[in-house]
Amino acid sequence: MSRSAVLSLVIVLLAAIPRADAETLLERGDYLVNHLMSCSNCHSPRGPGAASRALSGGVQVFDEPWFRVKGANITPDRDTGIGTWSDDDIKRAITLGVRPNGTPLAEAMPSAFFRILTPRDLDALVAYLRSVPAVRNEVTAPVYKAAVPPSPAYPPAVKRFSDADLGDPAKRGLYLSTVAHCMACHARTSEEVPADYIKTLGKGGRAFKGPWGETRSANITSSRTAGIGAWSDAELRRALTEGVTPDGRKLRPPMSDHVAYYRTWNAGDLDALVAWVRTIPPLE
Ligand code: HEC
Ligand code: HEC
Repeated sequence: MSRSAVLSLVIVLLAAIPRADAETLLERGDYLVNHLMSCSNCHSPRGPGAASRALSGGVQVFDEPWFRVKGANITPDRDTGIGTWSDDDIKRAITLGVRPNGTPLAEAMPSAFFRILTPRDLDALVAYLRSVPAVRNEVTAPVYKAAVPPSPAYPPAVKRFSDADLGDPAKRGLYLSTVAHCMACHARTSEEVPADYIKTLGKGGRAFKGPWGETRSANITSSRTAGIGAWSDAELRRALTEGVTPDGRKLRPPMSDHVAYYRTWNAGDLDALVAWVRTIPPLE
């Protein structure tokens, strides 16, 4: 075989090997919306046939003293979705929690955590949202019962991350736990509003009521008595991906709904998340 023939053979072979970094913007957007950030958990219908109506409006009602809202229709439908919004409008809603006309979204939409998003991940989110089928579905209009206290930015997330930050394992864990908004549920009790994320990071105690009764978010700090400091990494990983604690207890909603997402994360992302959770300072 001539040298050039060998060379072209090598090139053909190399091109056939799937490369991890070849993830397209749309693939990244799909991974963010349906796996890492669980947008679909709040914005998609459930039940038979729901897949064809993805992101056209959620099922949960977020009923708080300040508002009663449902996850909006975020498909490109021009009348009932966000089809007329510009890319910038969409990015501002995600990261700043405001509509194009400037009105704030209820804090049930965890924008406080999404300010950390890298420019590429924001682009990926927009690309993906624009690619899903437009679904006509009028979601019950939000009711604001009182001025919504402005939700403070989640402190670690005030600064926007860069692609280089994601290459650093410790920063990657912080990024993932932030976009997955663990602390929207695990940072405060129901009475502490707005949250003081620094003082109560990982303390838990927020109440969730539903058909399952009432659950309270757990203390996930590294306290060996009140938190999960005595768990091994493998036990924490199992809780996050199988929804079972070391003593064999099955986790209940809304945590169990999220387990369905975490189990689909890629192994490297799960490792980084587990490593970050171990760094949460102990709180009794
Ligand atoms: C914990 C639930 C929850 C998650 C997770 C969530 N959202 Fe939302 N989102 C909401 C709720 C509730 C509203 C409506 C708030 C209101 O009406 O004041 C909303 C509103 C929005 C809006 C404004 C739409 C409109 O017409 O007003 C956009 C855009 C949006 N979300 C995008 C996203 C994206 C993209 C993600 C994932 C990156 C996401 N959301 C994750 C609950 C959520
Ligand atoms: C929508 C709210 C919500 C989100 C988001 C959430 N959790 Fe939870 N989590 C809970 C609740 C509620 C429980 C308690 C469930 C129960 O009592 O069965 C819990 C339980 C846990 C437990 C079990 C602790 C124990 O002692 O039993 C771990 C570990 C945990 N969460 C970690 C996380 C991490 C890490 C994230 C982010 C990647 C996260 N959670 C996101 C609400 C949430």
